[in-house]
Amino acid sequence: MSLKENLEKLRDNGLQDIANSNEEQVLNDIRVKLLGKKGPITDALKSMKDLSAEERPKIGAIANQIKKELTEAIAKRQVELVQLVIQEKVKKETIDVTLPSRQTKKTGTQHILNQIIEDIEDLFIGLGYQVISGPEVEEDKYNFEKMNIPKDHPARDMQDTFYIDDELLMRTHTSPQQARTMEQHDFSKGPLKMISPGKVYRRDTDDATHSHQFHQIEGLVVDENITMADLKGTLEVLVRHVFGEDRKIRFRPSYFPFTEPSVEVDITCFACGGDGCRICKQTGWIEVLGAGLVHPNVLRNSGIDPEVYSGFAFGVGPDRFAMLKYGVEDIRNFYSNDVRFLEQFKGEEA
Ligand code: DAH
Repeated sequence: MSLKENLEKLRDNGLQDIANSNEEQVLNDIRVKLLGKKGPITDALKSMKDLSAEERPKIGAIANQIKKELTEAIAKRQVELVQLVIQEKVKKETIDVTLPSRQTKKTGTQHILNQIIEDIEDLFIGLGYQVISGPEVEEDKYNFEKMNIPKDHPARDMQDTFYIDDELLMRTHTSPQQARTMEQHDFSKGPLKMISPGKVYRRDTDDATHSHQFHQIEGLVVDENITMADLKGTLEVLVRHVFGEDRKIRFRPSYFPFTEPSVEVDITCFACGGDGCRICKQTGWIEVLGAGLVHPNVLRNSGIDPEVYSGFAFGVGPDRFAMLKYGVEDIRNFYSNDVRFLEQFKGEEA
């Protein structure tokens, strides 16, 4: 093979190797091998001294040309390889925006009792009721006397509480809101329809089903011709909303000083549907709240004529609703602020 052919073969193989190189290090090795001091081009240029004077410039020109071509090919490949590295990196670091994010911030949740209370508020707002809040430090007059529980009444025993002084106490129930709203109501503007949720207090020994502080939602409707049928229909809407559409309700006679007649309201068991199970203690029924028709004395005490107006009232315990609905066995869980308990109600929001 002539020197010219040798050089050309060298160039072709060199260009091939350069094109195939896929790392900067490999390309650098190729450069040293082809163009370095001990490389074949240098050798070829050195051996030109043995050529004839006629051939020398021709081969010299070819050798220089090949050297130039190889140098340029290496430089070009060098740029490509740098680009390739960047492209690889970009590909690897592509962000998958559909992946769920790492939870760095913990989001809280509304307390389960507030969830239940707000849900019931929404229901009654939809039925045209006002939502009214009242004072937790209440006057004896409203908490007891106007509710037909005079000073010596035995019903006070069940509702012993924390007294600020003889006439001021932590309210034992939300019923004083009945008197407060009746006093304010102007019947020329329509019937009185209100619910009043809030905290209530009792001097109870704290155990699994009692807490010195708990919640009630008072309900009151006063208008002409309000009957037990109105009460029953309303409570049916309430318990079906909270405990499920198939619930039936029944009234059992009971006693509250501020209602006459008074009833305890039971619903068919939501766990067994009424057949009898552990939750309903084999009876098929669960007691959920107290209610009745507003006692004439209570209407009178707030300046309303019982000959013209009548009303119904009910008292709901959201704590009890939550315990029943979610199978919570200890009421104190609602108040001890253990996040492991509270977190379980994430997403129960209506
Ligand atoms: N205030 C009663 C209690 O705390 C609950 C109650 C029962 C309220 C019957 C009412 C009612 O409005 O009609 O035990």
